[in-house]
Amino acid sequence: MKKIPPNQDGYIQTLNKMGQMTTTLDPYSSDFISFAKNTTLPVLEIGAAYGVATLPTLKTGARVIANDLSQDHLDILKSQVDLESQSRLTLLPGSFPDEINLEPNSIEGALVCRVLHFFSGPMIEASLEKIFRWLVPGGKLYVVAETPYMKSWESYLPTYERLKKSGHPWPGFIDRVESVAPSRAHVLPPSVHWLDPDILSRLFKNAGFVIERTEFINRTDFPDFLRFDGRESVGIIGIKP
Ligand SMILES: C[S@@+](CC[C@H](N)C(=O)[O-])C[C@H]1O[C@@H](n2cnc3c(N)ncnc32)[C@H](O)[C@@H]1O
Repeated sequence: MKKIPPNQDGYIQTLNKMGQMTTTLDPYSSDFISFAKNTTLPVLEIGAAYGVATLPTLKTGARVIANDLSQDHLDILKSQVDLESQSRLTLLPGSFPDEINLEPNSIEGALVCRVLHFFSGPMIEASLEKIFRWLVPGGKLYVVAETPYMKSWESYLPTYERLKKSGHPWPGFIDRVESVAPSRAHVLPPSVHWLDPDILSRLFKNAGFVIERTEFINRTDFPDFLRFDGRESVGIIGIKP
C-alpha cells in the first residue's frame, strides 16, 4: 500500500471519511509512548490509522496491537514498520468495541486517540468497560478526543453549554454534521460527539478507572480553522486499580 502524503494543514485524510490523522503528537499520546517503553505485556492502539502513535511506540521496543476499522489504513501502517519491529506488531482490524475481543488482563496500556468522538454515548461506555477488562491492574488507558471548542464548531457552543448546564449526559452529540459545520462534512461521518474533561471523568469513573490526569489540550498544532481558545482537545489518563 502506498503512503498518503499530508495535506497543507498537516493532516492525512482517512480512506473512510473518519476524520483525518494528525502528523503531530499531542502531549497525552507522547506520554503513552513513554509509558509503553517500560511495558512487558503488549499495549493496544484503537483507531491507529497510518500509525502516527503506533510507529514511535514500536520504536521504544514495546509490543503493540494496532486496531483500525480500515484494513487499508493498517496495511499502510505496516508498510512503514522496520524489520526489527515487525515481530512486535500485531494488526487487529475491525470495528471497536463490538468486533474486537482480547483476553482479560492481557494488555498493559491502551491509547484511543481522536476516535471516541465518533461514537454514541453507550458505545463509549461499552468501549471503556472492554478496555478496563483487558488491562492488567496498574495498566493505563489514554484517551484524546476533540471538544466543541473548535472554531468550525463555534455555532454549536451555545447549544452544548445549555445542554451541559441542564445535566444532559451527552451535550456534545451532534447527529447533523452537515447542517452544523458544512465546511467539515466532507471529512467526517454524519454524526460526531465532542467531549470534555467532565464527561470523560464521569465515564472513566463509572468504568472503574482511577483518574491520573485530565485537562483540555491547547492544540497549537491544529490549523487556524480549528484553533479556538486553547480547549480544542481533551486528554485523560485512567489507571485500572
Ligand atoms: C480521526 S482518525 C484518528 C487517527 C489517529 N489516531 C490520530 O490521532 O490522528 C480516526 C481513526 O479511527 C478509525 N476508526 C473509526 N471508528 C472506528 C472503530 N469503530 N473501530 C476502530 N477504528 C475506528 C478510523 O478508521 C480512523 O483511522
